[in-house]
Amino acid sequence: MNNISIAIDGPAASGKSTVAKVIAKRLGYLYIDTGAMYRALTYKALENNVDVENESALMHLLEETDMQLKHGEDGQLMFVDGEDVSEAIRSPKVTNSVSHVAKHGLIREDMVKRQREFSLNGGVIMDGRDIGTHVLPHAEVKIFMLASVEERAQRRHLENMQKGFPSDFEKLKEEIALRDKIDSEREVAPLKKADDAIEFDTTLYSKEEVVEKMLDIIQSTMQK
Ligand code: CDP
Ligand code: CDP
Repeated sequence: MNNISIAIDGPAASGKSTVAKVIAKRLGYLYIDTGAMYRALTYKALENNVDVENESALMHLLEETDMQLKHGEDGQLMFVDGEDVSEAIRSPKVTNSVSHVAKHGLIREDMVKRQREFSLNGGVIMDGRDIGTHVLPHAEVKIFMLASVEERAQRRHLENMQKGFPSDFEKLKEEIALRDKIDSEREVAPLKKADDAIEFDTTLYSKEEVVEKMLDIIQSTMQK
């Protein structure tokens, strides 16, 4: 298959990264989890007591941050200033602050520049909120992945329980809904389906079914 760009956007826990990782492996593509980049900056801000509402302080922090995505056996690893923060960036504290960091225009501008640099050679699958609309507007395949908020909270709840983390379904549902609201209503590059994206509601589908359907969509786009 030619080296195309594939953009996957959608709300929290709709299954973007799980599916993108598998597809990247199947196609031999580079997978870029852009959410991990916003999470990495949020982690560093919390570690350094930087107010997530203070855009210029965050910008200062970002400018001096070395962020690297490395490709491990099991997907992507995130290194911040040489430290592997792949697990730390998934903590509830980071999760509940990240949308505040990600709403700032200057931060997004810098992140988008880094994301485009990662994808210069094509053969890339990138997931996030603004990939089809802003980061890779010319991506050959664009998917907007959805699932009901109940189903998404249930998926995260199961994931937490499997990892042995404390988890409260109702609280998760509220947190996911709040993050969706902040991400969709922000002024800069909000979560939104690109006009030319294919909408895919995965509520009733398993991971395996989603992967197969996505591969069908990718293959039929390539044959056009
Ligand atoms: O995995 P999950 O859906 O929980 O979130 P994520 O993809 O790791 O993204 C975390 C947060 O980063 C999102 O809720 C957005 O606030 C922000 N984000 C963004 O604004 N733009 C992106 N391209 C990716 C993530
Ligand atoms: O990247 P995003 O936040 O969109 O979601 P994810 O982290 O890939 O998926 C959230 C959880 O849902 C993970 O535990 C996946 O294993 C699970 N999942 C699922 O149960 N069914 C799907 N069709 C897709 C994901």
